[in-house]
Amino acid sequence: MIETIDRLLQQLSRSRPEPPFGLKLWDGSERRYGQGKLAFVLDLCTPEAAVDVVARGSLGFGEAYMTGRLDVQGDLQQLLAFESHPAVRELHISALQKAKFMAGYLRARNSAKRSRENVRHHYDLGNDFYRLWLDESMTYSCAYWRDDCATLEEAQEAKHEHLCRKLQLEAGDRLVDIGCGWGGMLAYAARNYGVEGVGYTLSTEQCQWANERLRAEGLHPRVRVELKDYREAEGEFNKFVSIGMFEHVGKEFYSTFFEKTASLLTPEAIGVLHTIGKDVETQLDPWVTTYIFPGGYLPTVAQMAEPLGNAGLLLTDLENLRPHYGRTLDEWIARFEAHRDEVAARFGEEFVRMWRYYLNASAVGFKTGGTRLYQITFTKGINSGLPWTRECLYTG
Ligand SMILES: C[S@@+](CC[C@H](N)C(=O)[O-])C[C@H]1O[C@@H](n2cnc3c(N)ncnc32)[C@H](O)[C@@H]1O
Repeated sequence: MIETIDRLLQQLSRSRPEPPFGLKLWDGSERRYGQGKLAFVLDLCTPEAAVDVVARGSLGFGEAYMTGRLDVQGDLQQLLAFESHPAVRELHISALQKAKFMAGYLRARNSAKRSRENVRHHYDLGNDFYRLWLDESMTYSCAYWRDDCATLEEAQEAKHEHLCRKLQLEAGDRLVDIGCGWGGMLAYAARNYGVEGVGYTLSTEQCQWANERLRAEGLHPRVRVELKDYREAEGEFNKFVSIGMFEHVGKEFYSTFFEKTASLLTPEAIGVLHTIGKDVETQLDPWVTTYIFPGGYLPTVAQMAEPLGNAGLLLTDLENLRPHYGRTLDEWIARFEAHRDEVAARFGEEFVRMWRYYLNASAVGFKTGGTRLYQITFTKGINSGLPWTRECLYTG
């Protein structure tokens, strides 16, 4: 096992000499790869960790990190950046493990019933937990660094403003927000643009918190949040937004999602779908779908464009905010680490390691891996009133 790992690390080091790194084994022995100061040391604390790394793919690696069988001293993101290396991708999991994982994935498919459980798994960890590391508006999606010196709070506000401009929001507009989380976008749009609207979430904790916040600001019931699946959304709207929710839909339900969207919208309505995605379809990450986002699936543009068009929606613009999400995640990681003792006291050490791994792996995905952040603007049918340029996004 160790020789296989050693060969793999040598191969990685040859193809990417920078940064140098080290390997430490349970018997205290150490090896180094590359010259100079080590960026990280991969510490296999038990012999089982070697099996995890070589024979159990990303699931084994993630589980070994969570449980502490494996540790990383130094820069975890530099280590995780090797995950997209072809030699690492070639570390196959057995056919049996793959079959088990696929069975689990199929069980987690986002039917209306299963979506509730999947959402609860992630979002009902408690508002107190998310309050520790999200910004004040409790926005849990990519921020927008129009100004490089902005704080996370300001960058989240800038994201909401960017979306409002894409939506051409005006007083009296009726806005629906599918997957509204703690209601940050609705609050911003009501406060600054005088819209009415409804948001939908499947998280009980989010729904309560969001409505309390809207009441406290005097915005409720002009804007309100309902605890419903997107398939149960009702009403007629001329503006549509969905931020960081489409990742929970699952490709089997893309047509359902866009048909539902179209059914909620008046002719010429404008919408923006803000979602993590990939340019190229790749295999699901078994660790992420097992521990973090059961039922999660990242779409390609092609997978979205066709059902969107088939539903009578017209794609008018597409922006990729990839680097903005890397930075957002780094801000969350810094806040999370500042509160790691509180998180450990509430959920235990393994949970801290699980979330550290998830946040850092996500950051690396945006910085150097295959993950993207798409904002897709669309209209219902042709809207000939739309501006012909993007100037209005940046002026005024
Ligand atoms: C990553 S959070 C984003 C929240 C918010 N839009 C933001 O930017 O902070 C994803 C949201 O999608 C919601 N969601 C996931 N699946 C859903 C479904 N089937 N129907 C309605 N909401 C759903 C979750 O409840 C959660 O509020």
